[in-house]
Amino acid sequence: MTILWRFKELLKDLLLGKVRPAQKFFLGLEAPQKEITVWLHGRDAPLDVTNHHSLACASPFIICVAFEKGTKLKERELQVLSLHFCERENSRRLLGRIGLKYNGMSLPTKGPNLYFFQVSSASSYCLPLINLWMFYLQLRYRNWRYPSPPNTITLPSLQMRAMNILFICPRPIGLASAEEGSRGNMFPMNVMGQLDHGYFGFGLKEARSPSRLVARARRVALSTIPMQHGDLGYKLGPNHSKKTGIDWIDLPFATKRSRRYGIPIPEFALHVREMEVEVMKKLGSHIFFVGRIVEEERFSQWAEWCVIHGHYQTWRLRSRPVEIEFSIAEDARIKRGLIAESGLI
Ligand SMILES: Cc1cc2nc3c(=O)[nH]c(=O)nc-3n(C[C@H](O)[C@H](O)[C@H](O)COP(=O)(O)O)c2cc1C
Repeated sequence: MTILWRFKELLKDLLLGKVRPAQKFFLGLEAPQKEITVWLHGRDAPLDVTNHHSLACASPFIICVAFEKGTKLKERELQVLSLHFCERENSRRLLGRIGLKYNGMSLPTKGPNLYFFQVSSASSYCLPLINLWMFYLQLRYRNWRYPSPPNTITLPSLQMRAMNILFICPRPIGLASAEEGSRGNMFPMNVMGQLDHGYFGFGLKEARSPSRLVARARRVALSTIPMQHGDLGYKLGPNHSKKTGIDWIDLPFATKRSRRYGIPIPEFALHVREMEVEVMKKLGSHIFFVGRIVEEERFSQWAEWCVIHGHYQTWRLRSRPVEIEFSIAEDARIKRGLIAESGLI
């Protein structure tokens, strides 16, 4: 190792921080995650929406917040809403804040009332300010030096910062299966969220075949899987690009059938939600699907394959120094042999 190399590393440690996990960071967590609470501020009292919101579309960045059936938000409230991402334990510290800008759309369902928001501000408190600024400076330089291939979603700075904050809250990655005759597809999803006990939302790129398959089949089985098998789940990323779906036999693992609809799901699934699609809405790059949960099965309680933003992992590791090497190795194990996507979506 040359002196110049060492100097560069020292400078990076100083400016960007010593622990620099990947932006899209995989880890295993017991379900449902208990680390972060998402609070909606701006109404009379803060509302816990941890299990009542979902990323709905990547470009533009749109968040869906679910309210009890019949809720009508006042004009005045719609101007001042924000999401606060706070630690659940310890000092309940605020780690990120997204200011919400109502995009004029609300959707009634047979369950919750859904409101859709873009972003008006985004502040992250996971890293020291100097490290955060240097991170965004380095990202700008990389994007300028190595432009993304065409058809990749690139977000304006504010929306990208909001996306990073959204993933302070650990989000399970689901393997969604849908079937049409003898063919179907199984593909990973992280643009999704629980809307209430009976409803679930998920976004699929309009330009890719899974959105068309789900729109036709109107039935989906969504499985979470153990972290241990995250590498197999990650390998299914390219299934988003398979125009005519897949033969079930080609999956790199054994399957079994879901209880209600009999759709193939991974043999090692931890938790399966079977859903009937009630609403579909094109929002931009993604179509947002709202599914009514018709059946739910939990098979076991292993640590679930989840994704968080690397900045939150840096924050977590401050109080868990012994986990640094293992967690970074685990994330790398899942991505091994595949081109890791740089962003979160
Ligand atoms: C872990 C993981 C989660 C993903 N989640 C979604 C999702 O929720 N919605 C979606 O439309 N695509 C999702 N994708 C698909 C990717 O955005 C991407 O389109 C896919 O990996 C194919 O790569 P390509 O676009 O470079 O061909 C996901 C992919 C991976 C690996």
